[in-house]
Amino acid sequence: EKGTYPHFMLKEIDEQPFVIRRIIQEYQDENDNIKLDPEVREAMKDHDRVYIIACGTSYHAGLVGKQFIEKLAQVPVEVHVASEFSYNMPLLSEKPLFIFISQSGETADSRAVLVEIKQKGYKALTITNVPGSTLSREADYTLHLHAGPEIAVASTKAYTAQMAVLAILAVDTAQAKGLQLEFNPLSELGIAANAMEALTDQKEQLEDIARTYLSTTRNCFFIGRSIDYYVGLEGALKLKEISYIQAEGFAGGELKHGTIALIEEGTPVMALATQENVNYSIRGNVKEVAARGANPCVISMKGLDQESDAFVIPHVHELLTPLVSVVPYQLISYYAALHRDCDVDKPRNLAKSVTVE
Ligand code: F6R
Repeated sequence: EKGTYPHFMLKEIDEQPFVIRRIIQEYQDENDNIKLDPEVREAMKDHDRVYIIACGTSYHAGLVGKQFIEKLAQVPVEVHVASEFSYNMPLLSEKPLFIFISQSGETADSRAVLVEIKQKGYKALTITNVPGSTLSREADYTLHLHAGPEIAVASTKAYTAQMAVLAILAVDTAQAKGLQLEFNPLSELGIAANAMEALTDQKEQLEDIARTYLSTTRNCFFIGRSIDYYVGLEGALKLKEISYIQAEGFAGGELKHGTIALIEEGTPVMALATQENVNYSIRGNVKEVAARGANPCVISMKGLDQESDAFVIPHVHELLTPLVSVVPYQLISYYAALHRDCDVDKPRNLAKSVTVE
């Protein structure tokens, strides 16, 4: 039920801090350590490379998950769009472990890959919001997102839940391998949940941004570098699927290799600046597009912010910024769709779970 909310999407955006807190609880033991299926831990330790398979928003969560697993657990990871995987199956490592990320657990493109790799005898872990789903039943192991039912077609709380569970999985694997980490995912996720909650209280400001930048535009670009690039891809997907504004995410460094040709007078460009090591470069990109007439909207993180930024998110651990920086993008997309009289919860041509290949 939506309760007092006008749309499921808005309700699900608001639920995100609670979902993250539930995940912390579910994956924490009585000594505040990570509690995770020991078989999953063994599988992560025993395999030499992880292949993440997913579609759409879940694929975008996978891109961030790769950073977690490689940086924290030092295990190499490849991320593949499910529908493309079979045509160009990469040369697999000696002991590959497959991770399927799927909110619904019913996505046919992902299932096709699961069937194929099971036939070859490989092991699979499904990370899903629906533990009894097809992808969960057919995989060897399952991790549950605990996000509660997601009704709006546009995925929001499942995406942030996926990243939270992937962060916990990455640290658990690091611990299983005996690596010493400074990073405590459970406490850092708690800080991220508080930051997300603070953002859901700033809806008016985000609605203003949607009105200023997006009420009449034909297109919109999302730029970012490093992990901010992946959040830009997700921001663009959210905006296009519910507002029908043509939206594309670009890596900041790629602009000069062609895409900057798209910038016209007044083109809105959403830029994310949450990573210290690329802050200088992304700001350079903002200047470049502004010099060509774009209307840049910079969303930065506290500590890296500048006077002219349109919106500033609270400070969180640099690996976990996607959980927080996506929230303004979700809300901006929501209001842009609302201002354009679109059916927010049921966008045209889309279904909640895509059970055909
Ligand atoms: C976008 C969206 C889709 C899904 C994709 C995969 O908002 O919802 O891109 O993420 O269809 O679905 P699942 O995660 O159920 O496999």
